[in-house]
This record gives sequence, C-alpha cells and structure tokens, in this order.
Amino acid sequence: MYQPSPTRKSITLTTLAKMKRDREKFTVLTAYDASFAVLMEATGVEVLLVGDSLGMVIQGQRTTVPVTMEDMIYHTRMVARGCQTALLMADMPFASYATVDQAVYNAARLMQEGGAQMVKLEGGGALAETVRQLSRNGIPVCAHLGLLPQSVHKLGGYKVQGRDAAAAQQILDEALALQEAGADVALVECIPAELAGRLTAALDIPLIGIGAGPDCDAQVLVCYDMLGITPGRRPKFSKNFLTGCDSVQAAVEAYVRAVKSGEFPGPDHCIA
Ligand code: KIV
Repeated sequence: MYQPSPTRKSITLTTLAKMKRDREKFTVLTAYDASFAVLMEATGVEVLLVGDSLGMVIQGQRTTVPVTMEDMIYHTRMVARGCQTALLMADMPFASYATVDQAVYNAARLMQEGGAQMVKLEGGGALAETVRQLSRNGIPVCAHLGLLPQSVHKLGGYKVQGRDAAAAQQILDEALALQEAGADVALVECIPAELAGRLTAALDIPLIGIGAGPDCDAQVLVCYDMLGITPGRRPKFSKNFLTGCDSVQAAVEAYVRAVKSGEFPGPDHCIA
C-alpha cells in the first residue's frame, strides 16, 4: 500500500506561492476517489483537483454540464478521505455560481461537506465580484481562464482560446482583474504557449496550465488521460504516461518527474 511521505508537510497556498517565487514547478492531477488520492499523494503530487471532468470520465457524459453539486460533494468527500498532505481543490459545477450568493453558499458546501480547501470556477472578469466575496469569506479561489469547458455549447466546441492579439490581451486583463479581486491561483486551458508564458510573468499568483505550454508555474492533467484510459479521443496536449511503465504508480511518478524537470509539456503537447 502506498504511504504518504512521513516528511512531507501539508501543501498550502503559502507553499505554492513559495514554489512560484523559487521557480520550482508543482504538479496537479485530477482525482475522483480515495485510492487514487492516496497513490498520487504518495507520489508527490502537490494539488489534487476534483474536476468536473468526472462528468465525462466517471459518469460517461458528453460534457461537464450535467455535473451537479451533489456529484461534486460526493467525489470531493471520497478524495478528502485519501488526502492528507496535498492541497485539495474542487470544481464548482455548471451554474452553481450564477450569482454571488449562490457562489458563496455552494463553495461553503464544497468545503464543509466535501472537505475541499480551494474551489475552482470558470470565467473571466465578470466573476471579479464573486471572487472578491468568496475571498472575503475565507474561501481560497482558483480562477479558470482560456477554454471554459462548462461554456462548450456557447463556444461552439472545444477550441483554442487567445489566438489573436485582442483575445490574448483580454485573457491577460481578466487574469489580472481576478488576481486583484482575490484569486489565489489561476488556471489556463488550451491557449498558445507564448501567451501562457506572458501570463506567468505578469501574475504574482501561481499559474497552472493544461494545453498551455511549459512556461506555467504548474501543470495539470486529467488522470484518466495521462493513464490512457479515457474513452474516445484524448486531447492532443495530453500524454499517456503509462506507456513504458509497469504500474499506475510508476506512471504518476514519471509525470511528476517530467513536469518538475520541464520535460513535459514538450513541443508535441503545446499550442503554437
Ligand atoms: O475538470 C477538470 O478536470 C479540469 C481540468 C481540465 C483542469 O478543470
């Protein structure tokens, strides 16, 4: 059985801020249950994300839109049971933060009933007031920018964001506005690597990337993608780390090593 490192201290926002200052990359993986949480933590993953991607990889839905608060609370509670030192972040599901009051109420449920230590919500500058109120209530926030999977129907598909100069500037401005509102961490999905590099330099808070190139402060992958077991098409920016490994633990170790050394994401996993 995997054992948490007896020497590893709890990972907190202070730890992540220090890692950014020291230019030490940290690793994030999605987790949906206690067994994966124990394994990932024992392997040194700093942040576990209970992603609403569970709608697709666990529930077999076509998008994350059908995922409910009850689903998120259930899986967050399962991961929390296996998580002792990693920072536990949970997604706020579709439409659960449509108003500021709803956001505070539902984020508090994820923390009190699920055991989350940080919530993640998708959106830009329009969420600044929501982020400010969450922050005032002592709720750590990760602001998810770039491709917003919960808006897939509005976007007309899963498309690269921030390609032209105006769109790139908008993402930069929105990230800075959310940082100013109190966001503790930002996450960008599916944007050009060059834009992610500019964001990392511009932000004081740590930036986690997925499909955003090597210059972010941290990387995240959907764990079923990095184990090559997601049914159907795997995003191009992902990588199957189980190839050439003889166990899930070895694959997660390979991922941690590749992120920390800067080897992942390589050119094949970047958007130009
Ligand atoms: O839900 C999820 O797994 C996510 C990642 C893709 C970042 O938000």
